[in-house]
Amino acid sequence: MSNVELGNNGLMDDIAEVLITVEQLGARIVELGTQISTDYEGKDPLLIGVLRGVFIFMADLVRVITIPVSVDFIGITRYGPSTRTQGVVRFTKDLEICIKGRHVLFVEDIIDTGLTLRYILRALKTREPASLRVCALFDKPRTRLFDLHVDYTGFVLPDQYVVGYGLDYDERYRNLPFVGLLKEKAITRRRLPPGAQT
Ligand code: IMP
Ligand code: MG
Repeated sequence: MSNVELGNNGLMDDIAEVLITVEQLGARIVELGTQISTDYEGKDPLLIGVLRGVFIFMADLVRVITIPVSVDFIGITRYGPSTRTQGVVRFTKDLEICIKGRHVLFVEDIIDTGLTLRYILRALKTREPASLRVCALFDKPRTRLFDLHVDYTGFVLPDQYVVGYGLDYDERYRNLPFVGLLKEKAITRRRLPPGAQT
C-alpha cells in the first residue's frame, strides 16, 4: 500500500474488505491504455471526465496512453431524492474544448444506474462529435436501469457501495489507493444533501 499514513490515519479502520488492490488497478489500467492507444491511433482523441470521482483514474489512464490526447472535464450535480430511480442531472461546469468533429472518449469512474451516463451522452451527442465512446473503470451492471453500451470496462463490480481510488462516501476515502468496502460503523445515517456532487 502506498499511502504513507495507511494503517494509522483512521481511514483503514473503516475498511471491511479490499476488493481491488493497487496492483490489480495498475495492471488493468495499463491494458485499457494500451487498447485505447491502438484503437485511437492517428485520431487525436479528446478524453472527457466528470469531476470529481474520475480524477485519479483519468490521471493514471492518460499516463499509460502512448498516443497524443487532449483532456477536459465537466461538472454535474444530481438533484432530488438519492434513490436509484429518481433525480435530475444538471451541468455545473461545461467543457472548455469544442468537441464538434472530435473523437471523444467519455471516461467515467463508476456506472451504477446509468442515469448520469445517459444524461451526459445525450448532451454530448448534440454537439456532434465525430465519434463517442465510453470507458468506465468500474461497472455495476446488475443495478443498471438503462440499456447503455460501455466500450471499455475496467472491472465489473457486485451491487455494493465501494470507496477508494477517487470514489467517496460523504467526501471521504477518495485518497485510498485501492478499492474497498466500508465497515457498517463507517456508514453513518447521514445522507448527502440534495445537490451534493459525487
Ligand atoms: P449512476 O448515475 O447511478 O450510474 O451513478 C453514477 C455515479 O454515482 C458515479 O459516477 C459515482 O459518482 C456515484 N457512484 C455510484 N456507485 C458508487 C459507489 O459504489 N461508490 C462511490 N460512488 C458511486
Ligand atoms: Mg462519477
